[in-house]
Amino acid sequence: MSSLLVDDIGELVTNDVGGEGGPLGIRRDAALLVEEGRVAWIGPARDAPAADRRLDAGGAAVLPGFVDSHAHLVFAGDRATEFAARMAGQPYTGGGIRTTVGATRAATDDELRATVRRLRGEAMRQGTTTMEIKSGYGLTVADEARSLAIAAEVSEETTFLGAHVVPAEYADRPDDYVGLVCGPMLAAAAPHARWIDVFCERGAFDVDHARAILACGQAVGLGVRVHANQLGPGPGVQLGVELGAASVDHCTHLTDADVDALASTRVDGGHTTVATLLPGAEFSTRSPYPDARRLLDAGVTVALATDCNPGSSYTSSMPFCVALAVREMRMTPAEAVWAATAGGARALRRDDVGVLRPGARADLMVLDAPSHLHLAYRPGVPLIRQVLRNGVPQ
Ligand code: NIG
Ligand code: FE
Repeated sequence: MSSLLVDDIGELVTNDVGGEGGPLGIRRDAALLVEEGRVAWIGPARDAPAADRRLDAGGAAVLPGFVDSHAHLVFAGDRATEFAARMAGQPYTGGGIRTTVGATRAATDDELRATVRRLRGEAMRQGTTTMEIKSGYGLTVADEARSLAIAAEVSEETTFLGAHVVPAEYADRPDDYVGLVCGPMLAAAAPHARWIDVFCERGAFDVDHARAILACGQAVGLGVRVHANQLGPGPGVQLGVELGAASVDHCTHLTDADVDALASTRVDGGHTTVATLLPGAEFSTRSPYPDARRLLDAGVTVALATDCNPGSSYTSSMPFCVALAVREMRMTPAEAVWAATAGGARALRRDDVGVLRPGARADLMVLDAPSHLHLAYRPGVPLIRQVLRNGVPQ
């Protein structure tokens, strides 16, 4: 059994708050032993056990890898012109999704695979060791199934988003499209998916259609996530809570009742519904940012994710999202780092990632910096020196 000692860690963020170290469970002058892809031991560097190999962190900060719980990587083409038009004053409506659907349907499997792998690699180099990937730009039985099969080649966290928008060929018969999604499309998608998601928004799916689709997914064992309250107030967040969703995502336009509903999932225990905030989308659509403080102050569990997609948020960078959350959403650096690691893990109902403690997966990053604060303090700087996934240097 080969072991690896990550040694001379100036600041180790564990997110293991059973002990001391504040909300991030920080340990100073620490070492961490990896065996068989898992964390085997954490302790003071001076007590470090012998190991087959040693990785010297040189006094830098070490954190759990980012858990990006919301990304749309399976697509073809880009929408740079749409972005430029927005920056010149056009609003974002989600209408461009259909442009990407056309390009995605026309692409070969290998073209889609190349894009997924390119973006997954890009994210990995920025510290993302777990990445959820959605379908949703195919919107036919065959295109949704192949999107998920390709996503599943690089991630176990795959999400069926056949209900992204109603495709043009069903524009005047949305009920028929919902029937397709719940029937043959779900049957073809489910073997490759862990989750089901719906874009519950004016112009996409109303609450009755969204509820029906999510219930069909639950009936075949998929976990629920919802694109909710992105472009305006709406029923998505409360629908997610009603169905025990692992996460409701965007949460840009919330009422007090939405916040209360989310907070109640925390109090009840059992099913916590996480609010996943996606500041890359507000950045790229020049929209007001979600009110993270209101959620945190109400006791809601908050995650941060990229929403990486060619329309509303073409970034794979979790450090960028952390910096936005701190500067624009008034999260503290500690809250933002937690939300981008442990929060993402909660949003995926995972307890083996987003945390560094014995038994957890050895998914971590070494920064070119002495502290997690630098992720927000030095925005736009490539601070991720080394990434380990399952204990293996990437
Ligand atoms: O999460 N809101 C719906 N879906 C994506 C946007 C997709 C697109 O514009 O292509 C989102 O922002
Ligand atoms: Fe999204």
